[in-house]
Amino acid sequence: MDAFEIEGGARLAGEIRVNGSKNAALPLMAASLLTDQPLTLADVPDLSDIRNMRHLLDELGVEINQPQPGQLTLQTTDTSESHARYDIVKTMRASVCVLGPLLAARGRARVSLPGGCAIGQRPIDLHLHGLEALGARFQLEQGDVIGHVPGGRLVGNRIFLGGSFGSTVLGTANIISAATLARGTTIVESAACEPEIVDLANLLNRMGARISGAGSPRITIEGVDQLGGASHRVIPDRIEAGTLMVAAAITRSELTITNCPLDALMAATNRLEAIGVVVEPADDALSMRSKVRISAGESLSPCDITTQPHPGFPTDLQAQFMALLAVADGHSVITEKIFPERFLHVAELSRMGARLFRQGPTTIVSGVGRLVGAPVMASDLRASAGLVLAALAARGTSRILRVYHLDRGYERLEERLAAVGARIKRIGLDEHESPQPKVVVRKGIAPAYQP
Ligand code: EPZ
Repeated sequence: MDAFEIEGGARLAGEIRVNGSKNAALPLMAASLLTDQPLTLADVPDLSDIRNMRHLLDELGVEINQPQPGQLTLQTTDTSESHARYDIVKTMRASVCVLGPLLAARGRARVSLPGGCAIGQRPIDLHLHGLEALGARFQLEQGDVIGHVPGGRLVGNRIFLGGSFGSTVLGTANIISAATLARGTTIVESAACEPEIVDLANLLNRMGARISGAGSPRITIEGVDQLGGASHRVIPDRIEAGTLMVAAAITRSELTITNCPLDALMAATNRLEAIGVVVEPADDALSMRSKVRISAGESLSPCDITTQPHPGFPTDLQAQFMALLAVADGHSVITEKIFPERFLHVAELSRMGARLFRQGPTTIVSGVGRLVGAPVMASDLRASAGLVLAALAARGTSRILRVYHLDRGYERLEERLAAVGARIKRIGLDEHESPQPKVVVRKGIAPAYQP
């Protein structure tokens, strides 16, 4: 099991490019189930979640090729299998995004219920409610949701998709994908407004769908009889971009981030500026592929953060900003309104000297100026990113165990951070996670800074 060993205190410098978005790419790949024509996707990151989705789609009869790095062609060649098995779904909850496309294209689907995960209970009731409104019928058997479409074709409808924690991103992806092939018009109210939904709608429209309003809470889909092939470039990953911005800030460095979806990051840059971090886009126009210089001085101000659905502050950046605020000059309050239990990183950051007081969905962060290195355990994807950031700024050496969580969403993060000066290396530990590394690879040694 791999771990990262990080010697904190190195300043970062140079340029780093943001990769294509994992959370955009997964539903885009699932859209290949809606047509028998080829889809070509560019800028697909090489991540374990993407490999899991490839495996799942392969089982569902989609032939996938990779003509060059970052590019995938996907074509449905066999529609006989409609079962997303537990073995795959349990490794990647986003597998649920095949449900809508399967029902729309094949009139049937069997998808294992994803269950909870480290960030909390994660129901799919809103997905099922929306698909039922389009005419699908469901039953539960052996932990699998089995759906079928009486009459073979979904029928457009008005759907309210809001829940207790706002809308649902993958639920919206499922409903709009399914509604593209429904008879008649569908209106989704309280749709998720995330940029990944806009990217999906753009791909589906290229395939011949008629979707308007994506990016707003009301999306209208006029159903069509069939969809065709298309080529599409995945949007850059806003969460990776936000994580890199925090990497610059927490190490008091100056970093240039390219292919940066600044237009989708206003809540995050607003908080960075409140903290005293300088965010300088290369040109005035906000774009999804900007070049941005991030720099921070020694003094970081505290601030309050509440996670919300887009365009509010993203829950997927909460752990990273907690690490940053842990070294700010005062008290900050972080409130989690999307996944109220998403605080497993609190105990691990505390092992590094962070002063954190959690009460329900809120954590008070009392800045300590400098963290200290420690062995810590990654618990989920974004919590791992928070720990890596904390370790980059900590005094001494940290070891982040179980970085397979991180590998789900950040491609070769250690190599890319080392290339801009971080003292970080991947080490292979035996299955008992013994403290003695078997393999040692040292990269990117840069001068340490004195706080
Ligand atoms: C997506 O998950 C992302 N995953 C998550 O990123 C992200 O944290 C989340 O959206 C919120 O932005 C992918 O895109 C693959 P939701 P999703 O349905 O769609 C509740 C990461 O780290 N809810 O928008 O599954 C739910 O419990 C991952 O990259 C219901 O109540 O999240 C939560 O409180 C982690 N019923 C809220 O809605 C439902 O049927 C938002 O969840 C569905 C969701």
